[in-house]
Amino acid sequence: MKKRIFSGAQPTGKLHIGNYLGALRNWVALQTEYESFYCIVNLHAVTLPQDPSTLKRKTLDLARIYLAAGVDPEVSTIFIQSDVSEHAELAWVLNCVARMGELERMTQFKDKGKGEERASVGLFTYPVLMASDILLYQTDLVPVGQDQKQHLELTRDLAERFNRDFGETFVVPDPYIPPVGAAIMSLKEPQKKMSKSDENEAASIFLLDDPDTITKKIKKAVTDSGTAITFDDSRPAITNLLTIYHLLSGLPLEECEEHFAGKGYGDFKKELAEVTVEFLRPFQAKVREFDDATLKAILRRGAEKASAIASETLRNVYERMGIR
Ligand code: TYM
Repeated sequence: MKKRIFSGAQPTGKLHIGNYLGALRNWVALQTEYESFYCIVNLHAVTLPQDPSTLKRKTLDLARIYLAAGVDPEVSTIFIQSDVSEHAELAWVLNCVARMGELERMTQFKDKGKGEERASVGLFTYPVLMASDILLYQTDLVPVGQDQKQHLELTRDLAERFNRDFGETFVVPDPYIPPVGAAIMSLKEPQKKMSKSDENEAASIFLLDDPDTITKKIKKAVTDSGTAITFDDSRPAITNLLTIYHLLSGLPLEECEEHFAGKGYGDFKKELAEVTVEFLRPFQAKVREFDDATLKAILRRGAEKASAIASETLRNVYERMGIR
């Protein structure tokens, strides 16, 4: 039997090249080798305030992006989190397994909650809902970017604790964090990751940016002092741009430095912009291909398939806990 993958993204903000290179690209690469579940996590989205009609639209738009990126609905299961109510139900159970102390250590909560009294309780237990997503499907592998590593560790801890206290119930999942591209950085502050919630739009290349915008953003991206175009941890801006070039062009890592030897930042940025625009062109054309009716049919089918597995896991969990 094939091993299982689960992953997801939030239908908030605009997806950027970091989301693609850190996550979606690997979902596509791994989807035939594994039985794959790719979820649109709208329940996670409401941990921060969302406009209802925008959230509704973005949920369908994210399905379009999954498909355009190459997630094949004939091979993978694509569905909306809220269509499978077991996600919220198992999250409640796991909320009773998780400890305050371990959630207080989650860096994403500290970043997004900013220590405010007004932060939602949902934001605090966000990682528990994420554990529930993963554990419901007896997932073996979770392809994500670097920023989700801590949440994956918590997921493993919760699975192990539950198994210890109630008997073997959950598969303990492994993260899949790609060796290159797991943390694409901001074009403006290369010590920060590229983020959907960055207020400065110039810091990110969005998957739906037009060619002119992409070219301008890359032209204005910050660089490091010096002139060398090489991978070098002490020069994060150029290393980040070169990483994007490597992944989008497909040119082997070793050949990227050689390719730009003796060239200046101007030439490099021009080529990077061309490669990015050409990479996104067919993707953007594909995004426009899917009408709402087709999408809804894919998502309905996905939810049915997901529900069958999720309900079995939850039944088993309840039984072990004496909840009937
Ligand atoms: P989200 O929507 O923030 O991001 C989706 C995926 O993109 C990755 N990512 C990045 N990768 C490289 N460089 C970046 N700058 C960058 N920014 C984001 C993220 O790591 C993620 O893989 N909590 C998740 C959604 C989620 C989930 C799950 C994921 C909910 N349940 C279960 C896996 C399994 C999130 O916020 O993703």
